[in-house]
Amino acid sequence: MIIVIDGPAGSGKSSTAKAIANRLGIKFLDSGALYRAITYLWLESDKPGKAEFFENLSNVRLQADYRDQTFYVQADGKNLTDKIRTKYVADHVSEIASYKTARRFVNEFMRNLVKEDTYIADGRDLGTAVFPDADLKFYMDASLKERAKRRFLEMKASDESITLEDVMENLRSRDEKDQNRENDPLKKADDAIVIDTTGKSFEEQVQEMVSIIKENVNLN
Ligand code: DC
Repeated sequence: MIIVIDGPAGSGKSSTAKAIANRLGIKFLDSGALYRAITYLWLESDKPGKAEFFENLSNVRLQADYRDQTFYVQADGKNLTDKIRTKYVADHVSEIASYKTARRFVNEFMRNLVKEDTYIADGRDLGTAVFPDADLKFYMDASLKERAKRRFLEMKASDESITLEDVMENLRSRDEKDQNRENDPLKKADDAIVIDTTGKSFEEQVQEMVSIIKENVNLN
């Protein structure tokens, strides 16, 4: 069983999906974390051709697990969970995620993972390309200004030099890359329910989505 949430960067998908997973007692799958993990592996490698690198990634034992409200990622037994949240990785992930071989690897990994349990997953192309037959699809959005404000408040705690303008520019450029790439761009699925979170509190949006899930999906 799989419920998906797609939407642009900073629309609140991950934190909302996590809160919903906890309330419903299901698992959370963070597809962006998988793209970040393979980006980290590429950056730490001796950087052969990218297409070939991702084609041969099946030699790496990638593991993902959701517990204690954290989505853990490991490669060959090494914990990458914190390493993938750096600016170093964030600056390269959109480019890496545009490679067909990288997308094929991540998609196959996710399709295998969800066979074993009930998941709510967040990403960009889950309802369109990865799980077109998902049990329920959401598309979360908010204005660029509101998304940037939220991200800025999160990032300011660990990086005092960051400005709201920096964050807005990073989101704008990532949205543009994610929406215009050739392979599986960010796009609302025709049958996705749109949740616009501009002006809504976190609790309001979580409640709204939990109610929709309970009305539409049999979780037992
Ligand atoms: O959700 P996030 O910001 O952690 O995602 C990091 C990047 O991964 C994002 O800029 C685009 C890419 N991504 C993708 O191409 N497809 C997905 N399903 C999820 C993320």
